[in-house]
Amino acid sequence: YNERESLYIVLNFASDYFKDLLHNHPQGKSIGLSYFKERGFSNATIDKFDLGYTLDQWDGLIKAAKTAGHSEELLEKAGLIIKKEDKTYDRFRNRVIFPIHSISGKPIAFGARILINDKKQPKYINSPETDVYHKSEVLYGIAQAKKSIRDEENCFLVEGYTDVISLHQSGVENVVASSGTSLTTQQIKLIGRYAQNVTVLFDGDAAGLKAAMRGIDLILEGGLNVKVVIFPDGEDPDSYSRKMGDEAFKSFLEDNAKDFIRFKSDLLLEETKQDPIKKAETIQDIVRSISKIPDPVKRAIYIKECSDILEIDEALLIAEQNKVVLRDK
Ligand code: CTP
Ligand code: MN
Ligand code: MN
Ligand code: MN
Ligand code: MN
Repeated sequence: YNERESLYIVLNFASDYFKDLLHNHPQGKSIGLSYFKERGFSNATIDKFDLGYTLDQWDGLIKAAKTAGHSEELLEKAGLIIKKEDKTYDRFRNRVIFPIHSISGKPIAFGARILINDKKQPKYINSPETDVYHKSEVLYGIAQAKKSIRDEENCFLVEGYTDVISLHQSGVENVVASSGTSLTTQQIKLIGRYAQNVTVLFDGDAAGLKAAMRGIDLILEGGLNVKVVIFPDGEDPDSYSRKMGDEAFKSFLEDNAKDFIRFKSDLLLEETKQDPIKKAETIQDIVRSISKIPDPVKRAIYIKECSDILEIDEALLIAEQNKVVLRDK
């Protein structure tokens, strides 16, 4: 085998090992499986995403992998173990496991969630960059979602692993997450291979709103169309889908998906109320987003829409757009 192939093999071994612990180890069943069950994940969902569990041990994976003939060197290259001075230990311990798959469905990395929230430890520990895992190019859930994204001609973009999983269980399969990084140009290109429309579903908190704003411009720059759904404060797609139930949740998505101009204007105008200076800034902000769209015809359509919503003369908006483009050069 060449090195990439060896990495895929050991990552697959690890994924099977974590899965086996979840389903067959007494602690995996009593702690890991109950954790997922309490979150409302069904057996079918747990299988679909190959969810797993790791024991509260320093060398569980190292031992099992060595017995199966994998070297420490390979485990380290796969991001599965940590070598520090004279110590070598498993990266993921005492957590539930979310394998991250390549487009074709091979495990290439892992996200591992702590079982009980604890301020002293990070909620998620993720694989580092490796020769087969480049975070900025990967979307969590793409293997499970790609067919549906193509069929639906739309991709829902969420923040977290559990958002992807909960949406699947609610019957929404065209969903991926950027997972742990802020959205990148390469991730948008990847979505663009399957669909031209993205609906951003970000958490209803300050961080989510900020990420949505940034995401919009990046998606527009990538030449894709973008809509946004913002969740009530403190809710994310996972928590809200469970609160609402599947059918009400799906209706919520349909009723609340706003075109990015409508989203930005509603949000910004709500903040600025009737202050004319702030309204001018809002208009600039929206025009700046529109100026990122590569297609001139689409740009013109959005300028028209913006003019209708904000009741501003179209010619003025076009002039403003030209100014923004010059200034940002
Ligand atoms: N994340 C991470 N490391 C952290 C926190 C978050 O990598 N310490 C990533 C994870 O991919 C996570 C996503 O950012 O899924 C969104 O974070 P957050 O909303 O805090 O987590 P949830 O996905 O909602 O997880 P949960 O519902 O289990 O709390
Ligand atoms: Mn599988
Ligand atoms: Mn959040
Ligand atoms: Mn969240
Ligand atoms: Mn959550």
